[in-house]
Amino acid sequence: TVDTTRELLLSRIRDVRDYPKPGVVFKDITPLLADPRAFGALTDALADLCVKHGATKVVGLEARGFILAAPVAIRAGLGFIPVRKAGKLPGATLSQAYELEYGTAEIEVHAEDLNAGDRVMVIDDVLATGGTAEASLELIRRAGAEVAGVAVLMELGFLDGRAKLQPSLAGAPLEAL
Ligand code: PRP
Repeated sequence: TVDTTRELLLSRIRDVRDYPKPGVVFKDITPLLADPRAFGALTDALADLCVKHGATKVVGLEARGFILAAPVAIRAGLGFIPVRKAGKLPGATLSQAYELEYGTAEIEVHAEDLNAGDRVMVIDDVLATGGTAEASLELIRRAGAEVAGVAVLMELGFLDGRAKLQPSLAGAPLEAL
């Protein structure tokens, strides 16, 4: 059931205090990845969301998003498209800058990977401030594709990423397991 999957996933996420800096509680998913039952349940749940929302492609956000999105894409029978940090993709790219707490970051996608007619599900481990996910939605729309939704393992509610993401979702769902 949904409740027991949720309990299983929660039990495999480790809180690491004061990492990567004092005052931050880091959500470590490595225990989940090391448990094939939990990783499998997560993959199934995310693949179900891709089907439910009519996705035709799966985007993973570097780096932890790659780990989750790749098996989901295979399970759902969809292509996997990497959205990478700037400078890592060899072909013609679309780039999108976004704000960090201090400074800016930039993500990229191969322009030919997303096209009109594609419906894209964005997958990541954590939605924190929402900046990364928001930038990925920009990229998808600029490529001419449609957003099927954003699906994450965890949403850090106190950072209000959901509110920040609302305008760029434009009615598409944000699913947090
Ligand atoms: C983390 C996480 C998300 C993002 C969420 O990635 O995996 O991609 O931050 O933060 P936001 O909602 O505030 O944008 P990180 O940049 O740490 O990269 P990594 O996956 O390569 O460790």
